[in-house]
Amino acid sequence: MSEQPSPAPAPELFTWEFATDPYPAYAWLREHSPVHRTSLPSGVEAWLVTRYADARQALADQRLSKDPAHHAGSAHAKGKTGIPGERKAELMTHLLNIDPPDHTRLRRLVSKAFTPRTVAEFAPRVQELTDQLIDAFAEKGEADLIHDFAFPLPIYAICDLLGVPREDQDDFRDWAGMMIRHGGGPRGGVARSVKKMRNYLAELIHRKREEPGDDLISGLIRASDHGEHLTENEAAAMAFILLFAGFETTVNLIGNGVYALLRHPEQRERLQRALAEGDTELLATGVEELLRYDGPVELATWRYATEPLTLGGRDIAAGDPVLVVLAAADRDPERFSEPDTLDLSRRDNQHLGYGHGIHYCLGAPLARLEGQAAIATLLRRLPDLRLAADPDDLRWRGGLIMRGLRTLPVTFGTE
Ligand code: HEM
Repeated sequence: MSEQPSPAPAPELFTWEFATDPYPAYAWLREHSPVHRTSLPSGVEAWLVTRYADARQALADQRLSKDPAHHAGSAHAKGKTGIPGERKAELMTHLLNIDPPDHTRLRRLVSKAFTPRTVAEFAPRVQELTDQLIDAFAEKGEADLIHDFAFPLPIYAICDLLGVPREDQDDFRDWAGMMIRHGGGPRGGVARSVKKMRNYLAELIHRKREEPGDDLISGLIRASDHGEHLTENEAAAMAFILLFAGFETTVNLIGNGVYALLRHPEQRERLQRALAEGDTELLATGVEELLRYDGPVELATWRYATEPLTLGGRDIAAGDPVLVVLAAADRDPERFSEPDTLDLSRRDNQHLGYGHGIHYCLGAPLARLEGQAAIATLLRRLPDLRLAADPDDLRWRGGLIMRGLRTLPVTFGTE
């Protein structure tokens, strides 16, 4: 595979250095090989799309399918699994694995239950959760903001929203913890956690069908469109994807966001001043900018070419995986002025952190609500928050799907 000639050697991807700071590698790719063929750590060959214009085009291109059955290398595509529809089983039939018309139908149904109003009504609960989590460490003068704050907030929030009873939420916290610590693929403990979650959700859906409540799972069961309903399996897959898509992303939004503020004291002081004056506009633009500047999603945007196509001047074969690197696109100097500068008041900020097109993040209003509540409450309650580690010693969970800190040690004066 010949790359365009370039003075600097191609950067090594998926190393420890890359997880710590992928942006120099992304800059190289954008400039020298914007649609780049690479071998992923799993051995799978894939294309990385790093320029904003190409990324936006790819995210909206109907010839790029979300259905893994289109992957040329997949056993399913070659008809080798022996179990027809295996990949479609159970939790796999969710929004991020399907195309229209199935996607259109499911998205319409879930959108009836998970509305901006559902999220707005949830705001007081998110604030309460945020305060409770800070209460638990505010007296100590130190905390690990990932373990004590960024990690539990989204999981409790989504459990509450779905209607998981409070007494069962710590189980979800443990299962989710297993998934986040051991990353993507269902192996060993992760597989067990996924299974436990699946069984729990299936049972909960069953119970909610008998005794509906004022929660999202009951809403999903109730939702109908032209007489169509979600099947129990579809409702379980939907609940699972809401948990899965809304959990680690939000952990990283809070973790990466607070870290970026701690590294940019002038921006953080600006935000603290605005909040003290009751001005929340900078908080809103600021959380968007934190997403653009160091967003949680790296490559979790898999797509598969359903037919040969050309993107950014490269020929992509049918069946090739295409990964849109949102974090690279969101630092493209062709789209953003001074892209490596954190500017909380950035105006022209159509970042791709939540994706684009028909798969645009369904949970964006909830993520914004949680991100804004988390950051504003931390800065208000712990105004002298300080990083308690050398940035070079911080470890990142990185590389392929999401990017976020493993720990974020801080100290602060007690209230
Ligand atoms: C889709 C990012 C939070 C639910 C997506 C996509 C991105 C994204 C980039 C599109 C993926 C693609 O096109 O391949 C984020 C970020 C979040 C966040 C950065 C937090 C900061 C949430 C939350 C929820 C959620 C809180 C729900 C509770 C979903 C769902 C989809 C999705 C269901 C699939 C939509 C579809 O395929 O139609 N998200 N997300 N996300 N997100 Fe989020």
